[in-house]
Amino acid sequence: VSRIITRLTVTALFSLRNLTICAFTLDCNIVSCSKMNLTTVPVNLPNYTAVLDLSYNDITRLRAEWTTYKLPKLHNLLLSHNSLHFISTEAFVYVRHLRYLDLSSNNLRQLDEYIFEQLEHLEVLLLYNNHISQIDRTAFSGMISLQKLYLSQNLVSRFPVELVKNKTRLQKLSLLDLSSNRIKVLPIPELQSLPAWLKNGLYLHNNSLICNCELYSLMTQWFLRRLNSAVDFRDDYTCIPPGADKKILRVFELNVHMNCSTFNESMEETFLGQTLVLNCDTRHREMSKTWMLPGNIIASPGNNHSVEVFPDGILKISSVKLEDSGQYTCFAVSEHLNETLYVWVKVHNFTVSGTGDTLNTGYTTLVGCLASVVLVLIYLYLTPCRCFCCPGQGKPKNHHEDSIHSSILSATPTHEDMATKAELSRHVAFIDPKDLQGQNGKVNPSGVEELDDEARQGKGMRKKSVADSISSVFSDTPIVV
Ligand SMILES: *[C@@H]1O[C@H](CO)[C@@H](O)[C@H](O)[C@H]1NC(C)=O
Ligand SMILES: *[C@@H]1O[C@H](CO)[C@@H](O)[C@H](O)[C@H]1NC(C)=O
Ligand SMILES: *[C@@H]1O[C@H](CO)[C@@H](O)[C@H](O)[C@H]1NC(C)=O
Ligand SMILES: *[C@@H]1O[C@H](CO)[C@@H](O)[C@H](O)[C@H]1NC(C)=O
Ligand SMILES: *[C@@H]1O[C@H](CO)[C@@H](O)[C@H](O)[C@H]1NC(C)=O
Ligand SMILES: *[C@@H]1O[C@H](CO)[C@@H](O)[C@H](O)[C@H]1NC(C)=O
Ligand SMILES: *[C@@H]1O[C@H](CO)[C@@H](O)[C@H](O)[C@H]1NC(C)=O
Ligand SMILES: *[C@@H]1O[C@H](CO)[C@@H](O)[C@H](O)[C@H]1NC(C)=O
Ligand SMILES: *[C@@H]1O[C@H](CO)[C@@H](O)[C@H](O)[C@H]1NC(C)=O
Repeated sequence: VSRIITRLTVTALFSLRNLTICAFTLDCNIVSCSKMNLTTVPVNLPNYTAVLDLSYNDITRLRAEWTTYKLPKLHNLLLSHNSLHFISTEAFVYVRHLRYLDLSSNNLRQLDEYIFEQLEHLEVLLLYNNHISQIDRTAFSGMISLQKLYLSQNLVSRFPVELVKNKTRLQKLSLLDLSSNRIKVLPIPELQSLPAWLKNGLYLHNNSLICNCELYSLMTQWFLRRLNSAVDFRDDYTCIPPGADKKILRVFELNVHMNCSTFNESMEETFLGQTLVLNCDTRHREMSKTWMLPGNIIASPGNNHSVEVFPDGILKISSVKLEDSGQYTCFAVSEHLNETLYVWVKVHNFTVSGTGDTLNTGYTTLVGCLASVVLVLIYLYLTPCRCFCCPGQGKPKNHHEDSIHSSILSATPTHEDMATKAELSRHVAFIDPKDLQGQNGKVNPSGVEELDDEARQGKGMRKKSVADSISSVFSDTPIVV
């Protein structure tokens, strides 16, 4: 009886104030006002509303006073397919417990400073298919729980570097979709230094990137690591050459078009007596990691004084010997994904390394060390050749990544993956890694069979995406009353 009365009351309230009737499900505290031709948010919403669906209406503004009292239970707010062009900076003061906010397919043009600051529990923010061209540097600050941010199909021309920079980075963010925007330049050093689990969800395809060999190198690395962002949308990574010829090129073919040097899966090179640090840079976070040394020895702390394994999976070998050369394997295990990374290590005999192959590296590092001219001079005088200036240090930070293979041992897509794919609502390209090999003549030191095996499993795992945002909303975030 009480249910019926509540329903009647609510219905009546809505009818009076808005001349419309919102469906109200008492059991789940869902208020659904979808496709009701609303131009404003209904007033007198029950304060225990958990999900408020206002999608497919004609709401143009989300003012501060859309609710004048707290809605402490509200965790899903759906406003997609409206005509929103204004959001007050105080719009979310009374709904601080939102976890899912859908503002996709509206007319938003800019994101003002601190606009989402109150939403410190928000996990998913959908902003795709708007007209956003300006994002204030503080727009997303304070969103400490944000995990997924969808900004595709907008007019963004500046890469929001504050979202990936070390200090300002949102610590939980693992998916950032910036595809189909107008970005011309990427902050390549910042992107390179990101952990693989973040690059895995950093979608940048179909922008107006300017072609250069750094871009080629970056994307090829991502592809070789089988990162979803590069593998799933390989053909959509395009760029525009810097010259007069504006013919759109594919990023993965730049080695042909722009004579970018063939990307090699190089190995980690080091010198006798140096300290070797290997990072197990997995595609997911919070995996339990085990290292296997050459000769199939499990690296466990304590069994060898020179080998240390840190809790975050970093392997450190102090004072390397020639026998430390070989294949290092990191086994990373979690509930959703098992990953195996390989790193090839070559230890150079200090005396031999001065000639031949490593001469190039020597020159590069020399340039890097020009600041310490004195040191260089000392080297020049004290050693017969001049290639030992800071070996290892002058190399790119993530050098070893190049040689890493990752493999998916799981054939079942995770919940997270499904949700991701659903939101992207784009086709997924299936690629044979051999294609790439054929194109850039890449040499694969750790065996072709392995890659094929992995590709087969990978194919089984990738799913085409179909769902529109609404249907996935309820599956993405379970409704808690
Ligand atoms: C909304 O407006 C359209 C066109 O004016 C009309 O056809 C439709 O019936 C309206 N829907 C509701 C729920 O009032
Ligand atoms: C809703 O409002 C009523 C009175 O207006 C109050 O007693 C109740 O605690 C509120 N519920 C919540 C969840 O804030
Ligand atoms: C970012 O921080 C991590 C540790 O927090 C550090 O290892 C890394 O070098 C930093 N990267 C940059 C580019 O500053
Ligand atoms: C690429 O982006 C443009 C807008 O920038 C969009 O019109 C087009 O549909 C997108 N193409 C693909 C394949 O996503
Ligand atoms: C690439 O290199 C070849 C031969 O080294 C040269 O003929 C060609 O003009 C170069 N192309 C570009 C775009 O630089
Ligand atoms: C890549 O590897 C090939 C064959 O191993 C070698 O000829 C080429 O010089 C290497 N390129 C670079 C840029 O190291
Ligand atoms: C310690 O490592 C060295 C080479 O790195 C190896 O020869 C030796 O057998 C190892 N000792 C143990 C106890 O594993
Ligand atoms: C390193 O090279 C020198 C000169 O070729 C050689 O005499 C020495 O035995 C080598 N050291 C090792 C450990 O192989
Ligand atoms: C990962 O491997 C462990 C044992 O090696 C297994 O129990 C677990 O089910 C695997 N996880 C996946 C997602 O395949």
